[in-house]
Amino acid sequence: MSEAQDLTQLRNSSLAAVSAAANLAALEELRIQLLGKKGSITLALKTLKDIPAENRKSVGAELNQLKNSVEAAFASREKVLSLSQLGERLAREAIDVTLPVDSRPLTRGAGSLHPLTRVQQELELIFRGLGFTVVDGPEVETDYCNFEALNVPATHPARDMQDTFWTSGGDLLRTHTSSIQVRALQSMKPPLRIVAPGRVYRYERMDASHEHTFYQMEGMMIDKKVTVGHVIYFMRTLLREIFGFEAKIRLRPGYFPFVEPGFELDIWFKNRWLELLPCGLIHPRVLEFGGIDPNEWQGFAFGLGLSRLVMSRFKIDDIRHLQGGDLRFLTQFS
Ligand code: FA5
Repeated sequence: MSEAQDLTQLRNSSLAAVSAAANLAALEELRIQLLGKKGSITLALKTLKDIPAENRKSVGAELNQLKNSVEAAFASREKVLSLSQLGERLAREAIDVTLPVDSRPLTRGAGSLHPLTRVQQELELIFRGLGFTVVDGPEVETDYCNFEALNVPATHPARDMQDTFWTSGGDLLRTHTSSIQVRALQSMKPPLRIVAPGRVYRYERMDASHEHTFYQMEGMMIDKKVTVGHVIYFMRTLLREIFGFEAKIRLRPGYFPFVEPGFELDIWFKNRWLELLPCGLIHPRVLEFGGIDPNEWQGFAFGLGLSRLVMSRFKIDDIRHLQGGDLRFLTQFS
């Protein structure tokens, strides 16, 4: 058989095989057989050097053309197969929204608490045991409680770190649960110990560990002679109770206008440090805003990233699962 016939045969059999590939896995296998390191087209290209010089140019051109058309066939078959696999998946997972809601899974007792709620309740229990009261605050907050009384005036550059959604009346969706510190100082008298879990909002670029809507838990203790030692003791206790062992943590300086000194407590999660628990001694100005004499009283505060704690507790790799509402995710916790 001539080289031209060989090439025609190779072309026809390759194109026929590509269009017969039944699924993406078969197509990939075929790609290796034809275009892989030891694939038949690759080998044909390698033998070019053995062809007599007078034919080499034309056979070479033909082989390249063959390779290009086979590659093009692969690309278009891949498109067709991906679309049909997507079509099959859509058909398989289709939901008929006109059907009446089937509430049986819940009435049969298969419903369960969301992992965020579970961890929040556990934390509340731990802190109640340590003498803390659980308090709440509004999600639509005043500028005063969210920023001003936390020593972050309108011109403070720290505002850039926590932009949020604003109402036309000048209120905002709170950026952190620290606003509840201000409300607690307005309504309670020291000595006091509070924790305040809640949903917070930020104008945020989303990724696996950043949401625009997430959960924090604020903690605050005001008493006489509160020191950094108290901060570390309470943080360690909280993590030990939640994880059931001493989690690997590190403490480093952190800047927040409402604490001095301030710290960042990070936890080792999936081979990297995850920022989890900023904390520090309450800034005297914040106490003064709350009508408390900083010479008589001191305090510590922390702002736990509750959503992130849930991630590391249940080894969830993407924070967006938590509020995605996907039952395949949620039923893992029932
Ligand atoms: C604060 O929000 C401060 N209010 C914390 C604080 C309280 C400091 C009291 C000192 C005293 P920060 O912006 O770092 O700080 O957020 C606190 C925690 O919330 C972070 O450590 C992280 O765990 C979590 N967090 C922050 N942004 C996001 C986000 N976009 N998605 C999910 N979790 C987040």
